[in-house]
Amino acid sequence: MDTAAFKTKVTDAFNGAAATYDRLGVEFFTPMGRRLVERTSPRPGERVLDIGCGRGATLLPAAGLIGPTGRALGIDIAPAMIDEARHEAARQGIDNVELQVMDGEHPDLPAGSFDLVLGSYSIIFLPQARAALARYAGLLADGGRIGFTSPVFTRDTFPFLPPMFTELIPLSLLRHLPESWHPEQLHRQLHSWLERPADLTAAMEQAGFTDVEIVDEPVSMSAVSGEAWVDWSHTQGMRLLWQHLPEDEAATLRSRLIGALDALRDGDGPVLIEVPVRYVTATAAR
Ligand SMILES: C[S@@+](CC[C@H](N)C(=O)[O-])C[C@H]1O[C@@H](n2cnc3c(N)ncnc32)[C@H](O)[C@@H]1O
Repeated sequence: MDTAAFKTKVTDAFNGAAATYDRLGVEFFTPMGRRLVERTSPRPGERVLDIGCGRGATLLPAAGLIGPTGRALGIDIAPAMIDEARHEAARQGIDNVELQVMDGEHPDLPAGSFDLVLGSYSIIFLPQARAALARYAGLLADGGRIGFTSPVFTRDTFPFLPPMFTELIPLSLLRHLPESWHPEQLHRQLHSWLERPADLTAAMEQAGFTDVEIVDEPVSMSAVSGEAWVDWSHTQGMRLLWQHLPEDEAATLRSRLIGALDALRDGDGPVLIEVPVRYVTATAAR
């Protein structure tokens, strides 16, 4: 798949997901975004750029910390996500954010105009992410920082899902995904540089960063029920599988997942899943 077709697919998937993205009784992107913001410590008055801001899981907490003298810009390739972020900022009474539909791989923004670039679970969607990182280094003022998250990728797990799902989602179902979304292909195309900390550090340094820190830390994902998790899974990367599964196989997978996830609950309590997440932070080298 060429880059433009890939981006159209990603845009369509997130436009379709936007209305329910990060809702439906599952907590994942919000706690991860908050943690990324904690790790990058935005300060009052700083200028923040959030790449692939979605509904604002990192943008809005960062905007709170930079305060009225700071400026936060969220960009996303999916217009429906930008609309959702705008509503969410208004709902929370946050008025120091600006939102723009923009391809995060080629941000059309002035050099040296930000103190902090963020990207939670978004830089992983950029076909030429390493080239984009070099552009982000150029957008940062002296001493500027970057912080982003990614899954802790492994080749033998289902794309975007923690290892516990490897048992629950037969890898044979991958035949319904376009070939370019098979884990091996995805890996080769997009993610191989993220897998080994040494490669990732080298990529960051090559892109113009120093003081690279890579920390793997689980996010405690919580879902009010197995059904809530399955409904939520239609709003993230797994949407690509659901979209391509024939109806009967989708129904079988749905009931299998709901049964297995509900079995993890303590009575009426939530389903709790520890999801490994990689936090990468660095400073622009000058
Ligand atoms: C998994 S969501 C993460 C959203 C948000 N950062 C969060 O933590 O909830 C990935 C986001 O990246 C956006 N995205 C993917 N490719 C992009 C690109 N080339 N430029 C800008 N945004 C992109 C998607 O539209 C989507 O909103």
